[in-house]
Amino acid sequence: MTAPLFGLDRVSLRRGGVPVLDGLTAELREGANAVVGPSGSGKSTLLRLLDRLSDPDSGSVRFRGTDTREIDPLRLRRDVALVPQLPALLDGTVAANIRFAAGLAGREPDVERLLGLAGLDPSFADRDVDRLSVGEQQRAMIARALAPEPDVLLLDEPTSALDEQARDSIERTVAELGRSLGVSVVIVTHDPGQARRLAGWIVGIERGRAVRQGSASEVLP
Ligand SMILES: Nc1ncnc2c1ncn2[C@@H]1O[C@H](COP(=O)(O)OP(=O)(O)OP(=O)(O)O)[C@@H](O)[C@H]1O
Ligand SMILES: [Mg+2]
Repeated sequence: MTAPLFGLDRVSLRRGGVPVLDGLTAELREGANAVVGPSGSGKSTLLRLLDRLSDPDSGSVRFRGTDTREIDPLRLRRDVALVPQLPALLDGTVAANIRFAAGLAGREPDVERLLGLAGLDPSFADRDVDRLSVGEQQRAMIARALAPEPDVLLLDEPTSALDEQARDSIERTVAELGRSLGVSVVIVTHDPGQARRLAGWIVGIERGRAVRQGSASEVLP
């Protein structure tokens, strides 16, 4: 049997003395995954482990069968790109952000193509990031995340600040990325509807533990 995209085995992590992840065991699969759960349940913390922005206190995280602690973080982040929950662009233009991310991976980016993949027209290349709407910032972050040509995209609540129309539009972009680039996606969301629309495999977490996992029809009401 081939290894899953990510395997988390009894992962625990404390923050400020408080257990945030508490013996969490779950699997994520090639294709589209959603991690769902209430606010504060540990979703963002879990996502950051997948990119080695932190490591567990105990337990293990495997990426395609290899313990992530054995993978150099920068190497891992070339394959696995995280789009954080809050917009976190560098000052300057959208294109400069994309070039910076590509440069870290030693690549020369096709800015126009990356903008297109993220649903932005070419005129956004020269736009200053501080003059973008939140939805446009989310798209710019997706374009930037794609610059190193990752094959896994981690998205932390990419639509929580958006209205329904902008949400639908980002959801179409995410679905299309899976189809056209073949990237696997892990999307964190508090919205079961979004999980159902986008993901074939769903992990439900509560209070730092995975309480269910399976296909949408198995896991969601
Ligand atoms: N650096 C930290 N120090 C102390 N507590 C922390 C820290 N980071 C996270 N926590 C706590 O860990 C818990 C889980 O946080 P996390 O951000 O993973 O939740 P979440 O499921 O992503 O929530 P949300 O849906 O609101 O984004 C929360 O109770 C939070 O207060
Ligand atoms: Mg969060």
